[in-house]
Amino acid sequence: MKTAPTQSQTEKLTNDPVGIRRAVELLKSGAQVAFPTETVYGLGADACNDTAIAGIYAAKGRPSFNPLIAHVADEAMARKLVDFTPGAGRLAAAFWPGALTMVLPLNPDAGVSKLVTAGMDTLAVRVPDHPLAHPLLRDFGGPVAAPSANPSGRISPTHSDHVMAGLDGKIAAVVLGGACGVGVESTIIGFDPDPVLLRAGGLPVEAIEACLGQPLRHIVNADMPTAPGQLSSHYAPRGDVRLNADAAQSGEVLLGFGYVDATLNLSPTGDLIEAAANLFEMLHQLDAMGADKIAISPIPNTGLGLAINDRLRRAAAPRP
Ligand code: TXA
Ligand code: MG
Repeated sequence: MKTAPTQSQTEKLTNDPVGIRRAVELLKSGAQVAFPTETVYGLGADACNDTAIAGIYAAKGRPSFNPLIAHVADEAMARKLVDFTPGAGRLAAAFWPGALTMVLPLNPDAGVSKLVTAGMDTLAVRVPDHPLAHPLLRDFGGPVAAPSANPSGRISPTHSDHVMAGLDGKIAAVVLGGACGVGVESTIIGFDPDPVLLRAGGLPVEAIEACLGQPLRHIVNADMPTAPGQLSSHYAPRGDVRLNADAAQSGEVLLGFGYVDATLNLSPTGDLIEAAANLFEMLHQLDAMGADKIAISPIPNTGLGLAINDRLRRAAAPRP
């Protein structure tokens, strides 16, 4: 009989069928495996195995009231876990696989661990669009719960190097999938029963509103129980953060946007998609540089700018 390996060493799994097979084997044994998605790297474990999910919380040092997203290979798998509203069906058809998470009524027979839902009667589900995540989820054959693969409260990982920097030795393995294309976490939509925005993310709100033909109510409130993950200080680099800065003051490093004289620039041409893809990578770079005072250029609040500004406000929020 195979036992879960001790986690003193984190295995680096290749981005090919051999690596995926090993990742699936480890997940089935109840271990925690980080894998790439198009948004950020997730720290995955079997969503139906309490001990495996407890291992995620332990590795991240995450508050246990914070529910997790269940990742599946396709819509058919998602429909076994949750009840779809008509609006959810339209969004799934339009945007899955992709950077969209939907919070829907949990099917009580789905067998999902209460540690995934934090005991709530809803479940967040997502079908990622990534050439490694897809075969991993398909071959695992059930839901994989996966928060972002970073220590709780730290910057989300958009490269396997970031995962190793934060979690090496604390998790069984990481799939080496290179950089994530989108670079910010998925957009989260809830239904009450009308669609509401719970977290701005990698799928622009404007695209969702166009698909539904109605505006979305925004419930993006820092510490509300509707989205318990939204702790106010989050995504934080080590240095202090000052937002909407036109220029660096003395002692500050400027993270720029658009045509400014900056140490690092999210997008010199002012492209929000490029800026989202660079955001966490550059915050990691500022940590690596030892920047202790970070000024950040203003970012327009449209398209992916909504998600970027949300993450930046959290990065600038008072630390606990
Ligand atoms: O792009 C992403 O969404 C990444 C990749 C790995 O898929 N995952 C991610 O997971 O960002 P995490 O755990 O860092 O954020 C999940 C968010 C949390 O804010 C959590 O509170 C919220 O989803 N959430 C999960 N289940 C929920 C539920 N039933 N009701 C409301 N919010 C929920
Ligand atoms: Mg996270």
